[in-house]
Amino acid sequence: MTTLTISNLCKSFGDVDVLHDINLAVQSGEFVVLVGPSGCGKSTLLRLIAGLEDIIDGTIQIGERVINDVEADKRGIAMVFQSYALYPHMSVEQNIGFCLRVARQPSALIREKVQDVAQTLQIEQLLKRKPGELSGGQRQRVAIGRAIVRDPDVFLFDEPLSNLDAELRVQMRLELMKLHNRLKATMIYVTHDQVEALTMADKIVVMRDGVIEQEGTPIELFNNPCNKFVAGFIGTPKMNFLHGHITTVTEQSLHLELGEGVELEIPNRWRGHDAVGRGRKVCVGIRPNEVVEGESGVSTLRGTISVVEQLGRETLSHMVLPNKQYISVLENGQHFHEPGTPWTVSLKPEAIYLFDEHEQTIALTKEFA
Ligand SMILES: Nc1ncnc2c1ncn2[C@@H]1O[C@H](COP(=O)(O)OP(=O)(O)O)[C@@H](O)[C@H]1O
Ligand SMILES: [Mg+2]
Repeated sequence: MTTLTISNLCKSFGDVDVLHDINLAVQSGEFVVLVGPSGCGKSTLLRLIAGLEDIIDGTIQIGERVINDVEADKRGIAMVFQSYALYPHMSVEQNIGFCLRVARQPSALIREKVQDVAQTLQIEQLLKRKPGELSGGQRQRVAIGRAIVRDPDVFLFDEPLSNLDAELRVQMRLELMKLHNRLKATMIYVTHDQVEALTMADKIVVMRDGVIEQEGTPIELFNNPCNKFVAGFIGTPKMNFLHGHITTVTEQSLHLELGEGVELEIPNRWRGHDAVGRGRKVCVGIRPNEVVEGESGVSTLRGTISVVEQLGRETLSHMVLPNKQYISVLENGQHFHEPGTPWTVSLKPEAIYLFDEHEQTIALTKEFA
C-alpha cells in the first residue's frame, strides 16, 4: 500500500508563483478530494505529482521514496483528465491496452487485463469502437479503464466528471466510489463540485491561491471551517455572511451594527477574545438552514423578500435587509412567500459563526465549544 507525502512543495511558471509551500500527507488507500476556485493550482499540483511538470522546490515521496526525479511512467501513478485524452485513431481496446503494449507485455496478458477492466467498467461491448463513436460518459469510462489497467499505486483524477450531464455524473460518482472500495488504491480527486467533494472524500483539501487553506474530513470542514473562505466554500446553499462591527459587549450578548441602522444581537459565545471587543469589525456566518421564519430568540432580522426558489422538497428564499445585505433562508417543505413583502427571520444561536477582521474563525469559548 502507498502513502504519498508532499513537503514544502513550490511551483512557479516564470515569475508567477502558482503553489506556495504545499504540505500534504495522503494515507494509503485514502480518497482525498482537492477543491478550490479555478486557477488556485489544483491541476498544477496533480501534474507535479504525476511527473508532468518539474518540481522547483520541495519533495514528493511515495512511501519512503522521493520521486522528484523519477520519470512520469515509472512513478506508479495514473492520471485521468477532464478532457479524456484518448487516442482517436485507436479502438477502445487499443486505448486501454496502450501502456501495456508500450511496456512490451505479452499480448495474451494484455487481452486478459483489458477484458477484465472492460468488465469492471461495463464497456465490454464497446471494445472495438473508436472514441469518436462513444458518448461522453463512455469515453470517460475508457479513460478510467486506461488508468486502472496499469494497476497504479496512486490514481489522480482531474475533474473527471465535469463534462458529463448531471444524471451521468451521479452515476459515475457512485461507480468511482465502488471502484475505490474495491481497489483500495490511494486516490486524489480534483473537483469543483461541492456534492462530489462531500460525498466521496475521506479527506477534503481546500486550496486558494496556491495555498492549502484547510484539510479535514467533510464533516470537520463543514462544522469547523478555519476561516470565512472555507466556510463559504463547503456546503450548499452557501453560508450567509453579514458584515458589521460590535457596538456593545456584555457577558450575555454582542450587539452588532450591520450598517444603515440595521442592528443584530447575538448571544456572546466568544467571551474573552480580543477580536470580540467594542468597535471591532466582525462577520457573522450562518447557514441558510439555520435561519428560521419569525421572531424567536434574540437574533432577529427584518427585511423584504426578494426571490424565492422552489426546490420541491425545500424552499430557498432570499431576503434583502434595509442595508442591501442579503440573507438566504432554507426551509423544509414548500413555502410560497411573496417577493416584495416584509419578512422577519431569526438566526439559531448555536449555529452562528463569527469571523474576525482577517476573516479567521473566532473560536467559541470553552463552555460553548
Ligand atoms: N504551463 C503554464 N504556464 C504558465 N502558467 C500556468 C501554466 N499552467 C498553469 N498556469 C497558471 O497557474 C495557475 C494555476 O493553474 P491550475 O493549476 O490549472 O489551476 P486549477 O486547476 O486550480 O484551475 C493559473 O493561474 C494558471 O494560469
Ligand atoms: Mg484545473
